[in-house]
Amino acid sequence: MRTEFPNHTIILAVCGKGGVGKTTIAASMVRELVKLGEKKILAIDADPAVGLATALAVCPEKTVNDIRDEVIELIKKGNAGERKRVRELIDYEMMGALSEKGNLAFLAIGRPETEGCYCQVNELLKEIISQIASNFDYVIIDAEAGIEQVNRRVLEHVTHLVLVSDLSVKGINVAKAIREVAREAVKFHRIGLVLNKVRQFEENSLSIPREIPYLGEILECDEIRDADKTGKSFFEIAENPVFKAVREFLARLNIIEYRLCEERVK
Ligand SMILES: Nc1ncnc2c1ncn2[C@@H]1O[C@H](COP(=O)(O)OP(=O)(O)OP(=O)(O)O)[C@@H](O)[C@H]1O
Ligand SMILES: [Mg+2]
Repeated sequence: MRTEFPNHTIILAVCGKGGVGKTTIAASMVRELVKLGEKKILAIDADPAVGLATALAVCPEKTVNDIRDEVIELIKKGNAGERKRVRELIDYEMMGALSEKGNLAFLAIGRPETEGCYCQVNELLKEIISQIASNFDYVIIDAEAGIEQVNRRVLEHVTHLVLVSDLSVKGINVAKAIREVAREAVKFHRIGLVLNKVRQFEENSLSIPREIPYLGEILECDEIRDADKTGKSFFEIAENPVFKAVREFLARLNIIEYRLCEERVK
C-alpha cells in the first residue's frame, strides 16, 4: 500500500494562508483514507479557530488546551507529583482526549485564551505529534493559517507537507514563505502545492510557482461550499471532483496507490 515509508506513520500537514481551503482539503483527505478501511487515522485540528470537527462529524469532549489547563491546575494544587508523573499524566489525559469512531481518531488543539497559553498548547501539540503518532498509520493535521506553527517547529515531525493556495498572489506568497521556513523547521520527506477554488476557465492561467512541486488543482465545487453553510459532514457528501482530486494528490505523494484514484471509494 505505502510504497515510500512502509514502516512509518505518515504525518501530513495542510498549511497555507487563511481561507484558502486547508480544512476542506484536510477533511477530504481524512474522508478518503477512512473510506479505504483497515488503516488507523488520527485527524488533528491544530487551528484554534476550529472547523475540522464539523466536517468530520466528531464532537471532542476535551481539547489539548483543556489538558493543559487540568495539568496546570494539578501542579498548582501540588497534586501532580514529580516531573515524570506529570509526563505520565499528560500522556494518559491525551489518550482520553482522543474521540474515536471506527478507524478514525480525532484531537483538537482548542482555544487558548492568551498568547502565552497558545505557545504552551503548541508545545504540547508538538509532543503529541511526535509521541502518539506512531499508534496510527496516518496523521492528518489541519494547521493554523499562516506561518507561525511551521516557524515555531510545532510541525517539525511532519513527513508530508501540503501547501494550499487559491489563485491570489497573497496565497501563493504565503505558500512560498511557508516552504522557505519549512526547509529548516520541518523534517518533511515530501512537499507539494495544491491550487484550490480554481474556476474551469482559469485553468489555463494558473500561476504555479516553480520552486514547489505541483500536486494539482481543485475546482470550485457547489457541494463543498453548501456543506460548509449547513455544517454537513464530509462523510455524508457523495463522491465529487474534490474528493477525486484529493485521492490523486495522495497518490502523487505515494500515500495511496494510483489505482485507487479512479475507483469510487464507497
Ligand atoms: N474547492 C472548493 N469549492 C468550493 N468551496 C470551497 C472549496 N474549497 C474551500 N471552499 C470554501 O471556502 C471556504 C474556506 O475554506 P476552508 O474553511 O477549507 O479554508 P481554510 O483555509 O481552512 O480557512 P481558515 O484559514 O479560516 O481555517 C469554506 O466556505 C469552504 O467551504
Ligand atoms: Mg480551516
